[in-house]
Amino acid sequence: TGLTTIDPGFKNTGSCESAITFLDGEKGILRYRGYSIEELAEKADFLEVAYLLIFGELPNDEQLAKFHSDIKKESHVDEEMKKILDGFPKSAHPMGVLSSLTNALIAFNPSSVNVSSESDMYHAIVRILAKFPVLVAWTLRKKKGLPLDYGDDSLGYVENIHKMMFKRPSEEYKCNKIIIDALDKLLILHADHEQNCSTSTVRIVGSSHAGLFASLSAGISALWGPLHGGANQAVLEMLEAIEADGGDTKKYMAKAKDKNDPFRLMGFGHRVYKNFDPRAKIIKVAADEVLNDLGIDDPILAIAKGLEKEALEDPYFVDRKLYPNVDFYSGIIYRALGIPTEMFTVMFALGRLPGWIAQWREMRLNGEPIGRPRQVYVGENLRPFVEVNKR
Ligand code: CMC
Repeated sequence: TGLTTIDPGFKNTGSCESAITFLDGEKGILRYRGYSIEELAEKADFLEVAYLLIFGELPNDEQLAKFHSDIKKESHVDEEMKKILDGFPKSAHPMGVLSSLTNALIAFNPSSVNVSSESDMYHAIVRILAKFPVLVAWTLRKKKGLPLDYGDDSLGYVENIHKMMFKRPSEEYKCNKIIIDALDKLLILHADHEQNCSTSTVRIVGSSHAGLFASLSAGISALWGPLHGGANQAVLEMLEAIEADGGDTKKYMAKAKDKNDPFRLMGFGHRVYKNFDPRAKIIKVAADEVLNDLGIDDPILAIAKGLEKEALEDPYFVDRKLYPNVDFYSGIIYRALGIPTEMFTVMFALGRLPGWIAQWREMRLNGEPIGRPRQVYVGENLRPFVEVNKR
């Protein structure tokens, strides 16, 4: 009652105070807890960044070692979970599988639900940081028909994830530093992005005290959509379609500008950035480096660069301040690392996990009220019920 204005898409509505991520969309600035994304991507590793986002400060050696060791102690996923995974067809989209498995974890870890003290939260957090990568790896291995395995405690957090994903039964696992560094960088760049669609979902689900894993499962579903994290898969599919179409970028530019055509230039535009997405800048350079270091010549990279150049000079894109976003070049690196296209958004979820956790923890520690937006009712006024035979 009394509410007369709404803000569709929450374009101008703040939902919380947050001390985690600073974003200036006009200037293209992104910082985690005050540290610039450029510096973190260059100098930090993903686990340090996860700690920073969640607890507010970069860890010292001892804090990092304890955090990692607490995570390793929780890296077991109940064997029964394999039966749930088994129930999915191989063709199932990995994001649906991952969201379901994350929710299913609650049944095997019931003490992770009713958490209110900081120490309960800590346990739920290290548990999910340990088990989520196993679920990611299993999701990929199921797709590839590889046996399901657990991690290797002697490895770093990211290297272990890579091994869990790619180790083949008959081969000794060898790590390639270029690949691990590229993964680290991508995961860091995806780790948080303030109140985006999936993070807002995590906070709002968590605000009913539904528990961390349930909130994350909802966040994964929100991320799946092509307007959000699903854009990385959509970008690669678009670039492949352009390649198959003889590299005709002009045709796709025209489609993107045509208001009667639902096609959008995937990986372009952003709700907040009206300037270069600073993550896209770093990823573009990394894509060149990684492909070069791995000796890969991918024609899709040239198509992407061509599209970007055309868009940046086109009045339609210039007027609307549409720039490449984080999803535009990331898929080219994932592809070079041997990650299947359908797994791209799963990699985004893996990177975003610490951000979701940090935002959930902040929301709970701040004692935020249940999220419950209002509406402006535009339906029928009171009317009498009509029996079914008289309608
Ligand atoms: N291609 C063509 N036109 C576009 C695009 C695009 N990629 N993005 C926005 N526009 C146009 C849009 O049609 C509208 O034009 P007009 O003013 O004439 O109606 C104008 O630009 C503003 O767009 P909007 O849809 O009102 O903006 P929004 O803030 O609601 O949406 C967005 C932001 C990211 C959903 C949108 O830019 C988009 O759909 N981009 C493609 C999908 C994508 O790359 N998503 C990843 C986002 S970044 C990472 C993440 O969140 O996961």
